[in-house]
Amino acid sequence: MKVGLLLIATNKYIQFLNPLVESADRYFCTNHEVTYYVHTNQNFEVNTYRDIVAIPVEHKPWPWMTLERYKHFSDSKEQLSEMDYLYYCDVDMLFVNTVGDEILGDRVATQHPGLFGTRGTPETDSRSLAYIAPHEPMQYFAGGFNGGTSKEYLKMASTISANIIKDYEKELIAVWHDESHMNRYFVDNPPTVILSPSYCYGESLNIPFERRLLALDKDHAAVRN
Ligand code: GAL
Ligand code: GAL
Ligand code: MN
Repeated sequence: MKVGLLLIATNKYIQFLNPLVESADRYFCTNHEVTYYVHTNQNFEVNTYRDIVAIPVEHKPWPWMTLERYKHFSDSKEQLSEMDYLYYCDVDMLFVNTVGDEILGDRVATQHPGLFGTRGTPETDSRSLAYIAPHEPMQYFAGGFNGGTSKEYLKMASTISANIIKDYEKELIAVWHDESHMNRYFVDNPPTVILSPSYCYGESLNIPFERRLLALDKDHAAVRN
């Protein structure tokens, strides 16, 4: 299969790219043909045996890089639809164990490492398109790792991106940005594969799951702007 790994690494986030790609070379979908798509405004040089494609994007201050991630994916949908599957992971992550065919599916979500098995922190403002009503069944997913077939993933990206824009026209930004909208999307379009917090394991957490994809501890203030 052709699998695209979508990455966003503008400004200082570029420092995370090399270690992440090295770890993905070793552990991510090693039996498939992987292409890394790096959305960035920086020059970079990465040693990898796989294809790596730079997609130029402008940097914007927090929280716009996270809010607009699905817009970027949607903007390059023609190029990205060449892939069979698309996955996104935060660039400040590290693969530390195999991540393989168990992640393949139409719509793939990851349980949040701090909020798994709960409703978590959905948007509670009913004016927002990310709103989830208390009576709607849900569990909370993390925005740091998700994916699916390219067809399904690009559909999700364009829906979320449109909803974020519509919210902003009403001066609304959902409580956890794109993650809130992703959670709404998964209420309406349930994931066909639900991954445990192994796939978004907070580096300094101690939770009863294997460590596969670590979300690194970082100094947010030092990298965001
Ligand atoms: C980080 C993520 C980066 C980029 C950034 C945007 O959490 O690791 O890839 O998306 O958010 O603010
Ligand atoms: C935090 C995490 C945020 C967001 C939030 C949701 O632990 O750092 O990125 O997922 O939980 O409540
Ligand atoms: Mn992160």
